[in-house]
Amino acid sequence: MTDQPSPGVSGADYSGPQRVLSGVQPSGALHLGNYLGALVKFARLQHVQPTFIFVADLHAITVWQEPAKLAAQTREIAAAYLAAGLDPAKAAIFPQSAVPEHAELAWVFNCVARLGWLDRMTQFKEKSGKHKERSSVGLYTYPVLQAADILVYKATHVPVGEDQKQHLELTRDIAAKFNHDFDAPGFFPLPEPLVQGPGARVMSLRDGAAKMSKSDESDYSRINLTDDADAIAQKIRKARTDAAPLPETLEDLATRPEADNLVGIYAALANQTKAEVLAQYAGQGFGSFKPALTEVMVSTMGPVTARLKDYLSDPGEIDSILATGAARARQIARPVVDEVRKRVGFWGA
Ligand code: TRP
Repeated sequence: MTDQPSPGVSGADYSGPQRVLSGVQPSGALHLGNYLGALVKFARLQHVQPTFIFVADLHAITVWQEPAKLAAQTREIAAAYLAAGLDPAKAAIFPQSAVPEHAELAWVFNCVARLGWLDRMTQFKEKSGKHKERSSVGLYTYPVLQAADILVYKATHVPVGEDQKQHLELTRDIAAKFNHDFDAPGFFPLPEPLVQGPGARVMSLRDGAAKMSKSDESDYSRINLTDDADAIAQKIRKARTDAAPLPETLEDLATRPEADNLVGIYAALANQTKAEVLAQYAGQGFGSFKPALTEVMVSTMGPVTARLKDYLSDPGEIDSILATGAARARQIARPVVDEVRKRVGFWGA
């Protein structure tokens, strides 16, 4: 037994299959930032490696969720996954709570992780705010459950936002310590975050320094996945910009956060690089760039919104996809937890 993480050792010798895993919490409507930063990445990765994408309902209840709404919110995230192109024939798509092995492994990991490791987690500090004694205990051990989500499938690659890197480091520390303490070198892999992507960081339309967020009080700060063409056009028209025309170079663009954000969004939607967008629009003002951005946004997001609405109108179809996904996920997770039970020395294992 050690109290220190052993970075890079036991786990580096993992030689099992590569797997992708990620999840999104069902705690509010999704926006363009979630779509470009997460969902599109998931849909691309499903063609490359076995992929597990879940709805993080266990994580959601670390803060209060209305019981009468939680299942519907879970279906909404699943519908967004499907609308973004996740294919249930390729990726396993499921609710976290439907695979009890997540919570089962999380308990063991609660006994592997050290208080000192969790005390360093910046997201807990942000989310608990001034009154941490009033937070749920679950909010504190949230990153331990996240480690279980990942390692219960021995996932090797985890597409996440920049803000989740610290939780991935903790996941590696837990994996390495488990492998070390239970004499199981290479049992758990040390998973890597995949943070790059088409629209890794989509910023608010009202403030180029803040992330696009569902908790921003102004609806004009974000494009919701359910926004129609008129709403999109209006939000882009009102988006904050400076007065200068678009620059020639990426260096100049980088000094103008709002312009940089809009060019980045255009690039991600049009599947181009920012340099390619500048090559086309340098010297033009927002009077011509904004309508062009609206046009690509409406043409690329329109079909996504339409598919989202179709799925939402058929909850039975979503439920059957989620049930099948959960059964597939359990086929991988159960043997991993059974092996953990043996290693830990539980009766009957
Ligand atoms: N904490 C992640 C977020 O807020 C959601 C999440 C929960 C997750 N479990 C995960 C992401 C496992 C990747 C892997 O974005």
